[in-house]
Amino acid sequence: MSYGLLKGKRGIIFGALDENSIAWKVAMKCHEEGAKFTLTNAPIALRMGEINKLASHCGAEVIPADATSVEELEKLVARSTEVLGGKIDFILHSIGMSPNVRKNRPYEDLNYDFYQKTLDISALSFHKVMHVAYKNDAMNEYGSIVALTYIAAQRIFPDYTDMADAKSTLESIARGFGYRFAKKAKVRVNTISQSPTVTTAGKGIAGFNAFIDFAEKLSPLGNATGEDCANYCVSLFSDFTRKVTMQNLYHDGGFSSTGFTEDLMRKLEEGNS
Ligand SMILES: NC(=O)c1ccc[n+]([C@@H]2O[C@H](COP(=O)([O-])OP(=O)(O)OC[C@H]3O[C@@H](n4cnc5c(N)ncnc54)[C@H](O)[C@@H]3O)[C@@H](O)[C@H]2O)c1
Repeated sequence: MSYGLLKGKRGIIFGALDENSIAWKVAMKCHEEGAKFTLTNAPIALRMGEINKLASHCGAEVIPADATSVEELEKLVARSTEVLGGKIDFILHSIGMSPNVRKNRPYEDLNYDFYQKTLDISALSFHKVMHVAYKNDAMNEYGSIVALTYIAAQRIFPDYTDMADAKSTLESIARGFGYRFAKKAKVRVNTISQSPTVTTAGKGIAGFNAFIDFAEKLSPLGNATGEDCANYCVSLFSDFTRKVTMQNLYHDGGFSSTGFTEDLMRKLEEGNS
């Protein structure tokens, strides 16, 4: 069911690789709610993924951009305002990648070139996106910028290794830029801390399936799905959340506030019997 919450709004959506991607689901919802937007991903991902299917469904132009390149981001923002016919109302940053995780490097023995790539792709790219939008005065008043994060920024989840550092930085950038963007143009900047979700990036984490089950049992409402996340993004892009900014918003079925549950106890008891 559509509420027309984003009617007339223009956006840029980063990170839709395939239909499991959270960004894919966000794009589908934004389209349903009446938004116009461009889709973007790294050139290599565009070759490997299925973004054109999504683009034709949503009537969106696909603009390649490596989110670590300011030059490519400049072109993306310029082209987006041109094809959408005006300033931007919302941006979704849904980007994460750690070469250390991919190559199974443990945290206590990271490859430092990989580490810098993790930080650049998964965190500094968020600064670069906002830097380009800010400098070019590309956002409308009360525009909304959202990045996706994970609770490993606050607590140890050993297999998340250097992505945890990237997510802490990402959340800090949301506050740092959120302050400045609010002052300059009344633009909101937030991060959504999402439940574990089955996607290409998610599956890269060791022991992911067991972990999803654990999180499900520790969340009174159960894990938030990709579709739930898309709905939350729509609410943050809409006019109903105009004074929400510089927040890290947990979207996790209650996981972050829960110490223990009966479901988890039962599971552990089964394992011990
Ligand atoms: N899946 C989960 O369990 C989970 C939980 C919490 C937060 N998140 C976050 O959600 C976001 C989206 O991840 P997802 O789970 O949908 O996985 P995904 O693999 O579908 O999306 C990650 C995207 O990042 C893109 N990307 C990588 N390098 C890039 C670059 N240099 N420039 C531009 N784009 C680049 C990929 O092409 C891909 O589209 C990430 O920030 C991830 O950390 C995921």
